[in-house]
Amino acid sequence: MSASGKSAPLTRLPAWRALQEHHRSAAGFRLRELFEQDPARFDKFSLRCGDILLDYSKHLVTADTLRLLLELAHSRDLPAWINRLFSGDKINLSENRSALHTALRAPGPLVVDGTDIATDVAQTLSRMRRFCDAVRGGKRKGFSGRAFTDVVNIGIGGSDLGPALATEALAPYACPQLQSHFVSNVDAAHLAGVLARLNPETTLFVVASKTFTTLETLANARSARDWLIAKAGSTAAAVPHFAAATSNVAAAREFGIDAEQVFETWDWVGGRYSLWSAVGLPLALTIGMEHFNQLRAGAHDMDAHFRNTPPERNMPVIMGLLGIWYANFFGAATQAILPYDQSLRLLPDYLQQLEMESNGKCVTQDGSAVDYATAPVIFGAAGTNGQHAFYQLLHQGTQLVPADFIGCCQSHYNLGSHHEILLSNLFAQSEALMRGRTRDEGKAQMQSQDMPQQDIARMAPHRVFPGNRPSTTILIRKLEPRTLGALLALYEHKVFVQSVIWGVNAFDQWGVELGKQLAGRILPELATGTPVSAHDASTNGLINYFKANRH
Ligand code: F6P
Repeated sequence: MSASGKSAPLTRLPAWRALQEHHRSAAGFRLRELFEQDPARFDKFSLRCGDILLDYSKHLVTADTLRLLLELAHSRDLPAWINRLFSGDKINLSENRSALHTALRAPGPLVVDGTDIATDVAQTLSRMRRFCDAVRGGKRKGFSGRAFTDVVNIGIGGSDLGPALATEALAPYACPQLQSHFVSNVDAAHLAGVLARLNPETTLFVVASKTFTTLETLANARSARDWLIAKAGSTAAAVPHFAAATSNVAAAREFGIDAEQVFETWDWVGGRYSLWSAVGLPLALTIGMEHFNQLRAGAHDMDAHFRNTPPERNMPVIMGLLGIWYANFFGAATQAILPYDQSLRLLPDYLQQLEMESNGKCVTQDGSAVDYATAPVIFGAAGTNGQHAFYQLLHQGTQLVPADFIGCCQSHYNLGSHHEILLSNLFAQSEALMRGRTRDEGKAQMQSQDMPQQDIARMAPHRVFPGNRPSTTILIRKLEPRTLGALLALYEHKVFVQSVIWGVNAFDQWGVELGKQLAGRILPELATGTPVSAHDASTNGLINYFKANRH
């Protein structure tokens, strides 16, 4: 759908057809040769934004490819969509909502539906600041008069992944007196495991749920409350131990959370885009409001870049279009996220929700079925761990898996040469994927190791790396609140760019509803002694087996 509301089927656009045609010649692209032919390839195909460098020269693209991809973006009205995003148009059509996560980090006023949302944001931020300062300074206390030492965030999906990732990534900025914990899974093992290490007198819970109706979060919050009341002796004594981040203030109040400790988010912030809102409270408690504001400022830097930079030099636009190139023209069904930074260990999980919940759609905004691929499966792990687990497939498997390598020039942890070892592996992996190793190179290496001739012949096929496998490398000067904010906003906007090309709504998630409804129906069935027969044979069989073996 174009920004003005007129739809034009994507696969019938001249730009799409031109890319299909171009893809036929791309089958002959050899990255080794492209680098040999053009020593300036890195300079041409890399971008800088603040302290972030994006190298996309190891992609199966030429200047022509980029021109055609940019034409596609133009024919999907991308600049107009970017404008609509930032100005608060209701681009989340199925829910008739704006998607204004950018307003959570923007300094200026913005009126939506007659309300200046910037004032609402500023008020919540200043309440968060007072609360964080009081907790961190030991002024806000638990039932026995002791200062809080532990914060437990209870939330799931967007109410967990962003804060958990950022809290771990920014651990060097954490307040040493306050430990943070994240409980998301309804499996009792998660909450029980965390509670076992905590003292109720000094534990603060933040119940994070945009809707305040999420089954898992409410079940965990109720059990946490029971645990606290049992130790504190009364419901009233437990009250100071609970805060909430939600857009459903009434439900949080009904749960028993003091109005002073309820921090509002809004309908126009999607769960997976909510780190910058009150959902960031556990992070703000841990790193302090100053650092939390730097994180927001970094995201705003990227917002400004995305909004004001021409498409050909625009990082999220280029990243988004490269993803389209592989998903739609090479048939790549996956995308690897490979942070060479233990602090970014949770980035693949976070991006899984961001990308797959946003763009894992099979109908366009106007409800027509798509006849092309949308979001790839996102997976990954911190390097170098992943190298010893799944990189074999990346190098010699039969599928094309575009990869994002992410590393930092400076480490917070200066321990011997660990950082050089880590980064040498990052550089080596992207080089190996790109160059591969020919049969002759493999043989030469074995010869240099004095292997017997017959072994060399037998081993040669196993030593071949096809190469020509594309990757992006993102280098960050140092992992700080501001650079982390910019990195996460980069991915948010990349996802938006792709949603515009695919014509899907990046801000709804109807696909998670059905399972929730069915679980609601099955739960009471598990409580009875009688076998069930209302489902299909498999589901009946599984439920009945569970019931028979429950005790
Ligand atoms: O079930 C999906 C989802 O709605 C996500 O989009 C969201 O981040 C998560 O559940 C948690 O929702 P809530 O913050 O409302 O508890």
